[in-house]
Amino acid sequence: MSISEPIYGSTERLFLRQFSEQDIEPFYSYRTNPVVAKFQPWGNYQYNDAVSFVRQQITNVPGQPGTWFQFAIVLVETNQFIGDCALHTLLDEPRIVEIGFTLAEEQQGKGYASEAVKLLFNFVFEQLNKHKVIAFTDVRNEGSIRLLERVGMRREGHLLENYYSNGQWVNEYQYSILQSEWINLKK
Ligand SMILES: CC(C)(COP(=O)(O)OP(=O)(O)OC[C@H]1O[C@@H](n2cnc3c(N)ncnc32)[C@H](O)[C@@H]1OP(=O)(O)O)[C@@H](O)C(=O)NCCC(=O)NCCS
Repeated sequence: MSISEPIYGSTERLFLRQFSEQDIEPFYSYRTNPVVAKFQPWGNYQYNDAVSFVRQQITNVPGQPGTWFQFAIVLVETNQFIGDCALHTLLDEPRIVEIGFTLAEEQQGKGYASEAVKLLFNFVFEQLNKHKVIAFTDVRNEGSIRLLERVGMRREGHLLENYYSNGQWVNEYQYSILQSEWINLKK
């Protein structure tokens, strides 16, 4: 199978690649699934939002200060696009990055998201040489919390009414992992 987009890491089961035009349909489909969107701020997501989002990602470069870069998560065996993980490089302190992740509902519960996030850590800490990765999650998002702890992130903050989404203030946890902690975890 030949892939023309840049690849940012791979395991036996999946790889991370740059978004491509063919991802628009499946991306739109899982973003508008209420189960997937339950704790997300996407609101009334339209097909055109997906088109412009994916097209922007096709040209983006990871690690640029002040930008979000989205990696497509793809299964090795079938070449199926199953979700994405995101990398937000902070504008004021680009040695610190924030991550996010989403899987299509039918692909959850198989360990794919954890595997993808670990690939993302490899890329961020070993290729981009970043100092710290942070992530925020709604305190009610149990699947996300389990994933963050499974990949070795520490709960570093409990932020009350930290963000306004779908008509209400949301409490969040902040999770973190340092480059030194990731290197130790891999030993
Ligand atoms: C957050 C999210 C990505 C987690 O997905 P997930 O598939 O549960 O996460 P993982 O890849 O870590 O999978 C772990 C689960 O797969 C199971 N599993 C099955 N086969 C496995 C395998 N071969 N290897 C590892 N885990 C496996 C694990 O037991 C675990 O189940 P559990 O959570 O019920 O204990 C997913 O719920 C999602 O997309 N949510 C919507 C978007 C969202 O809210 N994102 C978070 C924003 S902060």
